[in-house]
Amino acid sequence: MGLRDKLKGAVKKVIGGGDAKASGARAVVGVGKDTPDGYRVVAPVGAIKEGAAGTYAHNNNRVVAVFLKDGTYYAIDNECRHEDGPVGEGEIKGCLVTCPYHDWEYDFTTGKCTTQPDSRLETYAVRVQDGFIQVGPILTPGTTMRGGAHNDGLKVITL
Ligand code: FES
Repeated sequence: MGLRDKLKGAVKKVIGGGDAKASGARAVVGVGKDTPDGYRVVAPVGAIKEGAAGTYAHNNNRVVAVFLKDGTYYAIDNECRHEDGPVGEGEIKGCLVTCPYHDWEYDFTTGKCTTQPDSRLETYAVRVQDGFIQVGPILTPGTTMRGGAHNDGLKVITL
């Protein structure tokens, strides 16, 4: 099982996929349901604080990271374009989040990678309705290419 599948499985459990459904949690909060116009209800308002993202399974079979900055929610694809690291688990400073694996940095308001400018993550529409945060369609596309130089401060020395 690849990292991508592990992430999807873990997020599904957290937001109320199969296991939570059996406990009744999904029916109570509405989290994990899809609206008729294609949004996925991901969390109640208040569940995401500034400085800490939430990660959720989207209805397009991707995992999205949702951020709060100055009262506005933002959502980007959670899968780092370097080696698939979980961007939403990274350190957040302002509107920048740093992938916990090798420190690629992304602007979560635009999806752009500041470490590798030719890489970017998809951004998604986000709205609040009936007290819940909802993530909708892709607003700006991301790049599909993976790999590139690390940003760990080390230099390769050839002998
Ligand atoms: S996987 Fe994100 S920086 Fe390497």
